Amino acid sequence: MTHFTARAHTNIALLKYWGKADTTLMLPTTTSISLTLDEFYTDTTVWFDAALVADDVMLDDEVMTGKGYDKVTRFLDLVRDMAGETRYAHVHSANHVPTAAGLASSASAFAALAGAASRAAGLALSPAELSRLARRGSGSASRSIFGGFAQWDRGHDDLTSVAKPLVETIDWPIQLLTVIINDQPKKIDSRGGMQHAKATSPFYDDWVNRSNALVPVMQTAIANHDIDQIGQLAEANALQMHATNATAQPAFNYLTDSSWQVINLATRLREQGISVYATMDAGPNVKLISRPADTEVITAALAEAIPGVVVRTATPGPSIKIVEGDQ
Ligand code: PMV
Repeated sequence: MTHFTARAHTNIALLKYWGKADTTLMLPTTTSISLTLDEFYTDTTVWFDAALVADDVMLDDEVMTGKGYDKVTRFLDLVRDMAGETRYAHVHSANHVPTAAGLASSASAFAALAGAASRAAGLALSPAELSRLARRGSGSASRSIFGGFAQWDRGHDDLTSVAKPLVETIDWPIQLLTVIINDQPKKIDSRGGMQHAKATSPFYDDWVNRSNALVPVMQTAIANHDIDQIGQLAEANALQMHATNATAQPAFNYLTDSSWQVINLATRLREQGISVYATMDAGPNVKLISRPADTEVITAALAEAIPGVVVRTATPGPSIKIVEGDQ
């Protein structure tokens, strides 16, 4: 029984994925661009075992059950089909990400699972093939195969909907300050939330068109190391994504009063000449795109506005690593 272990890092989208054109193949309506983060990652070990009568899935030393377990076994079925593997698998995973709080733990989780499970099943997939496989677990996982800035092309079928690296090594100062507002699991998962917004928001098509039109503009901003342009585009894109939720029928919301306090604080700090821009995903936490040199000023302002707030610094991270053996 050969064990394989993969470490994949989370990523935060600067241009978001929010809605599927095809829910089976997980084809998105938008091309998205992300930054992979060093500080948050998942380590997953997989081995197939003829003695098992069902998949054995452990997350952070606890037996996984319910919806989360079903997602993992369905994903393993895809790997088994690809590899002609008939055995069930042990999956032991350790998440170094606050789970399900809008910090994209599903991205690192399914990227790591794709890497470890495919190798344990005897497959040697290319990074693009791994990205396509990871996409089937969680769309954002397609981007976590790569380090630095990555782009997931929405594509039109299984083969063309795949992520690629834009710039893997980042040698200029950019970071995401992660403001942890509430690290409890969210009530509406991204899977349900995005399809509800797509089905019912009158602004959804506008969001798709605007988001796709920003792809070349964001690429240029990244190539120019232009943190203000990156930040402005990312903040506008995030707010427009959240506007599709606020205008869904019935409306729903991931952002809390504290989230808005942080978003408004970023606006005030910009008026003082500091480059700081907010982006938010399917949870209340706010990620502040900023320069490392401004960390002290920003965290002091946050601590004053929200006493006791927890801030974690996240810098650009690497691509997936897969090794033979245990975690
Ligand atoms: O990959 P999922 O199903 O967890 O969806 C991720 C959606 C967002 O995080 C809100 C945006 C994105 O592109 O990561």
